[in-house]
Amino acid sequence: MAITITIANEKGGVGKTTTAVNLAAGIALRLSERPDGRNRVLLVDMDPQVHALLAVAYEKHQHTPAESLAALLTETPPPSIQRLIQRSDYHANLFFVPSERAAMIRAARELPALMANETRLQRALTPILDEYAYIIIDTPPNTGDLLINSLVAADHVIIPVETSYLGVSGLIELQRTIEQVQTHFKPDLNILGYLPSLCEEQRSESREILEEMHKRYKKLMLPTIHKASDLAYAHSSHMDIFTYRPPRNPSSQNIISSSRGTREYAELVDLVLKQTGDHKRYREG
Ligand SMILES: Nc1ncnc2c1ncn2[C@@H]1O[C@H](COP(=O)(O)OP(=O)(O)OP(=O)(O)O)[C@@H](O)[C@H]1O
Ligand SMILES: [Mg+2]
Repeated sequence: MAITITIANEKGGVGKTTTAVNLAAGIALRLSERPDGRNRVLLVDMDPQVHALLAVAYEKHQHTPAESLAALLTETPPPSIQRLIQRSDYHANLFFVPSERAAMIRAARELPALMANETRLQRALTPILDEYAYIIIDTPPNTGDLLINSLVAADHVIIPVETSYLGVSGLIELQRTIEQVQTHFKPDLNILGYLPSLCEEQRSESREILEEMHKRYKKLMLPTIHKASDLAYAHSSHMDIFTYRPPRNPSSQNIISSSRGTREYAELVDLVLKQTGDHKRYREG
């Protein structure tokens, strides 16, 4: 059974897409030489901006097929997800569901009037759960059916939080949305953690917020991601950080280079693999 992780925060520009892309790529790299072959990772981009897809499949993304993620969400019966899925540009075991801006904006508008509008992504993913080790879902910066679908489909949520005063202020609303999803659809939806992002350690504001977050979220704090120009350049070069700044002899054991972004995202990847691996064993008894 795939472990599904949704990256969510209704606030814009907090590092959701950067985290979704680098987590998906990092997990794909770490699992790439797994002897049992259970190494496939799927990236689902629920944001109509489709920035995550630009980073994993820039070339292929230019030719979106007639049927894409929006059809999975709105059509009854939906098209076969197996037929839609494509391989990413840089990692043989990283895959994505094609998506397209205009179709996703239409889907977001149509969903509220459709039957089972909150569970459509979950249902669409069900047939492929055995084929993937991990499914990573990126979400748009607002509440609405696209976010709800992404949470209902998830086992775990990671919440990137910009380390600024405005960054922590909007979290109550997201926590309420998560509680609603737990109450109505998914009692065991787990907050894997809060990820301090875009941290500028030389700024006292960043340091104070980080301290405050540690007090508030304690064990739910994930390792800090600092602001690093490599991460922004990788994004604008349509690459994940491990592809943009690889080490000299890359392998599943060796994914960290001199670039701080590779070290920090590898730390997150390894923590996520450790924590969700245990969760999976626990669930399967
Ligand atoms: N740690 C970082 N260091 C430097 N730049 C970063 C970092 N994280 C993200 N960025 C840059 O900040 C911008 C916003 O990041 P990103 O797109 O990941 O946020 P988002 O939460 O997905 O935004 P949106 O809500 O619009 O989807 C991007 O240009 C990205 O390249
Ligand atoms: Mg984004």
